[in-house]
Amino acid sequence: MSGNYDRKDKLYQRAKEEGYRSRAAFKLIELDKKYKLLRSGIKVVDLGCWPGGWLQVVAGRLGTQGVAVGIDLVETIPFSEPNVHVVTGDAREDVNIEKVRSYAPEGFDLLLSDMSPKLSGIKEADQAGTVACAELALWGAQTLLKKGGSFVCKVFKGNETELFYRAARPAFEKLQRSELDATRKTSNEFYLIGTGYKGQS
Ligand SMILES: C[S@@+](CC[C@H](N)C(=O)[O-])C[C@H]1O[C@@H](n2cnc3c(N)ncnc32)[C@H](O)[C@@H]1O
Repeated sequence: MSGNYDRKDKLYQRAKEEGYRSRAAFKLIELDKKYKLLRSGIKVVDLGCWPGGWLQVVAGRLGTQGVAVGIDLVETIPFSEPNVHVVTGDAREDVNIEKVRSYAPEGFDLLLSDMSPKLSGIKEADQAGTVACAELALWGAQTLLKKGGSFVCKVFKGNETELFYRAARPAFEKLQRSELDATRKTSNEFYLIGTGYKGQS
């Protein structure tokens, strides 16, 4: 679809009207309705947070005791809430993951990943890039989540994603697939929702 279509997209308009930084905010709202992921007082890490739509949704649900930390390659405009933090950098680098961890040294309750690579239009390269993002998210979960924590990860339909699903499945009590109404009809994206993280084996 053309950029022109994107600008006319209903959720894009709604995001603008409601003050969300991205239409992606509605995906997290939908995921939260289905899976009850967000609640007051929890600690949340958001991989691939820019421009910050998901962080806005999280910020609205944390209360004063919760903590949210987002990380992205692109600099995210800071939040006014004192318990919402952003790190600029590559989530593949230990130094950046340590910065994230410093905001919740005892571990996070929920890891969100909406990461996606810059798409090239070359099918094989894009599929490999999106699976690499999912693998990075799983590594992030194994590094940052508390036992019992939850995991949300964007993936795209394809054989490699099936292999990723099988590799990730044992790490959680439950790993569900969810296609969202807020996803553009032309996209083959869906989300994996892991609950009951079993901890490092
Ligand atoms: C679809 S956007 C996220 C939108 C966001 N959830 C929101 O609500 O506004 C995907 C983001 O993943 C980020 N990303 C991809 N690979 C990354 C990496 N290795 N480390 C950090 N961020 C990454 C990209 O820079 C991009 O901003």
